[in-house]
Amino acid sequence: MQVVLLGPPGVGKGTQAELIAAAFGLKHLATGDLLRKAVRDGSPLGLQAKAYMDQGKLVPDEVIIGLVRGEVVAALAGQFLFDGFPRTLAQAEALDATLAESGKPLTHVVSLSVDPEVIVDRATGRRLCRACGAIYHVRHYPPPAGGRCACGGELYQRTDDAEATVRERLAVYARQTAPLLDYYRGRGLLKPVAATGDRETVFAGVRQALAG
Ligand code: AP5
Repeated sequence: MQVVLLGPPGVGKGTQAELIAAAFGLKHLATGDLLRKAVRDGSPLGLQAKAYMDQGKLVPDEVIIGLVRGEVVAALAGQFLFDGFPRTLAQAEALDATLAESGKPLTHVVSLSVDPEVIVDRATGRRLCRACGAIYHVRHYPPPAGGRCACGGELYQRTDDAEATVRERLAVYARQTAPLLDYYRGRGLLKPVAATGDRETVFAGVRQALAG
């Protein structure tokens, strides 16, 4: 099973990716997490990426493709789940070329969707753990009493989760990433899943999509 998880910012990709990876034994590769680590480390790539991320824009394709190439090759040793990659046609074509060389083509592209106003609510209410990366929501999935993660780690809000930036990210998704839906539909790989309801309800739909 080689899976891509597609969907607009804040729809619940990271939340579902954790459930999928645990249930199906896939290696979870999230380009957003790789980029945030590069920013934290202060690497040249991180410094280059930060300006784009803070504005809600996509990081240029050549930077992303360079960043993920090694990770993709390492992931090919087993079964993998890409979350947040590819996001442009150029990235999708680069991924196809790497997978073709390895003889491990994609098997499923799960596409999550929900009303944009639900997305704004999900993204602006998100809180993350600095220590373990756990994903909370101030109302839907509140952290334990005391306002820290279950692991004891400090919670923070992503700078790109400010409402204006979330709306810009949604516009960028519509312009640059949504065309991938047709790209994968044309290859018979697209599995649309409604991301309405709680995370267990959404995961039931994802399970069904992965069974097909
Ligand atoms: P990235 O980190 O990938 O962000 P994203 O795609 O915008 O997605 P998010 O992480 O915001 O949301 P999600 O869908 O994972 O939702 P989550 O599960 O956390 O990318 C960040 C930036 O990096 C980009 O803007 C870009 O600049 C750059 N970048 C990354 N990859 C790139 C690439 N390939 N090319 C170019 N640039 C790239 O859930 C959100 C909230 O909702 C949480 O609070 C959660 O608890 C809650 N929630 C989840 N499910 C439910 C539910 N069913 N009901 C209620 N609440 C829910």
